[in-house]
Amino acid sequence: MVYLDHAATTPMRPEAIEAMTAALAVVGNPSSIHSAGQQAKRLLEESRERVAATLGVDGIEVVFTGNGTEAVNLAIKGLWWQRRTASAGDAAAGAARRRIVVPAGEHHATLDTVDWLVEHEGADVVEIPLDAVGRLRLDVLERELDDASTIALVTMLWANNEVGTIQPVEEVARLTARAGVPLHVDAIAAYGQVPIDVRSLRRSTEAPRGAGLVALSVSAHKIGGPAGIGALVLDRSAAVEPLIHGGGQQRKVRSGTQDVAAAAAFAAAAESVAARLDDDAERMAALRDRVIDGVLEAVPSARLSGDAGPGASVRLPGNVHFSFPGCEGDSLLFLLDAAGVAVSTGSACQAGVPEPSHVLMAMGRTEADARGALRITLGHTSTDADVDAFLAALPAAHAQAARAGLAARATSFDR
Ligand SMILES: Cc1ncc(COP(=O)(O)O)c(C=O)c1O
Repeated sequence: MVYLDHAATTPMRPEAIEAMTAALAVVGNPSSIHSAGQQAKRLLEESRERVAATLGVDGIEVVFTGNGTEAVNLAIKGLWWQRRTASAGDAAAGAARRRIVVPAGEHHATLDTVDWLVEHEGADVVEIPLDAVGRLRLDVLERELDDASTIALVTMLWANNEVGTIQPVEEVARLTARAGVPLHVDAIAAYGQVPIDVRSLRRSTEAPRGAGLVALSVSAHKIGGPAGIGALVLDRSAAVEPLIHGGGQQRKVRSGTQDVAAAAAFAAAAESVAARLDDDAERMAALRDRVIDGVLEAVPSARLSGDAGPGASVRLPGNVHFSFPGCEGDSLLFLLDAAGVAVSTGSACQAGVPEPSHVLMAMGRTEADARGALRITLGHTSTDADVDAFLAALPAAHAQAARAGLAARATSFDR
């Protein structure tokens, strides 16, 4: 199998498997005071420090969660409740903060969390539109921030998981810092592909306490760590209302016995990624550009989504995203799978029914375009041979998917 779906999840790195295997043999609950517990705690805290170092923060600012989705939920709901309640200071000011500012095209971890807050907590959503390459419209955001006293929080992706567009995080961090509003960034798709340094970003954007970039979500399985552990980076100056109550672990922000082995593996993967970030990004970008050139040569009608200029500067190095007019993305996916190549349509499949990508729709594309989408994502195990295999399988899969698309359209005209 040629695996080109690294944005969904990427194989565990050998260092992470080794660290996890060794740590699974460590006995002791890190909250216990006996020496076995303390040994587990040392390994856990050392792992936290190592993950923190790859994100430019201190260990105390890293809250381990069960996955990226939980980190995003904790950031958004936690900031919302914290900003709304009297514990944030003045009750009237809290009550006025009903708006959550969120760009279009976010991941469902964000969209569904925000929708839940609208339905159950009376939140108002302010959607920031995207431009044609998928970047949020800074001018619209800036206008919304004029009314900062009504904003609970701003949340955004560092990079879009479907089309790979890197967002203007520094500019948004600066605008929110100036407006005195907290910003959460979902960096799950970006972590391991672009440098992330939270402390220097807070410094360069002159973030005051509790405002600007205060929270950032990451997930281990996207960088070669295990599934089942993520982290929320929470600046010391910020507070969130916890979602899970219990033993008071992790500064009471996220109770529950922590998974030491997963944390150790997360740390090993994070360090390995950080040590060769630039080289890996360069290598992936070269493979990415080979895929892009090869697809355009094989299927000239294919349309690249996201940043497409020569030397595209706001595209993740591992992301390729095309629309194939006249084809269903799902047909292409199944045909390529049958040919031994794993790719993705990039968008969610709701109850087995493929949905046109909400990201492409937000970028102003047609529904037909959004239905013919295919995402090819590269990662640390990708090679030139993988690219060759994909490009060899594509023409036949495309021809067959185009025939199926034509037949489906003919049938719908007959009806
Ligand atoms: C941008 C983004 N946010 C959130 C998530 C959810 O992370 P997890 O799979 O760790 O729950 C993903 C995973 O696909 C993602 O790409």
